[in-house]
Amino acid sequence: MLARAVEWLFRAGTVVALTGAGVSAESGVPTFRGAEGLWRSFRPEELATPGAFARDPKLVWEWYDWRRSLIARSSPNAGHYALVDMERRFSDFTLLTQNVDGLHDRAGSRRIVRLHGDIWTLRCTGCGREEHNEQVPLDELPPRCLCGALFRPGVVWFGEPLPHKALAAAFAAAERADVFLVLGTSSVVYPAAALPRVALERGARVVEINLEPTELSSLAHLSLRGKTGELLPELLRQAA
Ligand code: OAD
Repeated sequence: MLARAVEWLFRAGTVVALTGAGVSAESGVPTFRGAEGLWRSFRPEELATPGAFARDPKLVWEWYDWRRSLIARSSPNAGHYALVDMERRFSDFTLLTQNVDGLHDRAGSRRIVRLHGDIWTLRCTGCGREEHNEQVPLDELPPRCLCGALFRPGVVWFGEPLPHKALAAAFAAAERADVFLVLGTSSVVYPAAALPRVALERGARVVEINLEPTELSSLAHLSLRGKTGELLPELLRQAA
């Protein structure tokens, strides 16, 4: 099975990878869905929506502050590093991520399209100023901008549009991909979940790596069962 993906990668000019929470799972960062997923213990509408923030900004920030602390204690894993290798290996490689944890940056990936924002960015709800902030825990919850208004996490919440530039770059990449890798994502959250489908329509070979079958598995040319931290390095080793 892996051999087919290796062959497609060998011949590919343009490679695109879309990552989801599963890629960071081996770093100890919880995923959203599944048996141990965050949405088992927390309700998205109470924590990850504009309405939730308007109702109780402190509660929302406590949750994000907790996630920031957890991520700060974790390190990139072999899957993140394999994607850094891919960026070096393929002249036309694009990394699209739904993850907000910054572990791709910490591993060393440079060209990253962040579809759902960045948990290390604070965005002012008043003046719109953005600030990179890696302090954990934050001094004051909810944090405030110099202008006096509340900061919010620089992430995309349910019901919000994705950043326009990132989304346009992601669809452009999907349209020209020869090989499109779908890594550690349940493929249920749109518009990100539309990207591999666009790639399929445009003739790309779509390869999924996931621990479990997903909504995409039956559509993908190849759906590999396993951990991205194990299968991605193996794929690269064989494609060398
Ligand atoms: P999910 O939690 O929905 O899915 C994680 C996927 O990773 C599941 O399909 C798991 O089977 C798989 N998985 C877990 N560990 C793995 C491993 N080591 N190797 C390979 N696969 C593994 O996460 P996402 O698909 O990223 O959005 O979720 C999409 C969006 O929903 C998130 O960006 C977030 C969430 O609500 C927002 O907050 C806007």
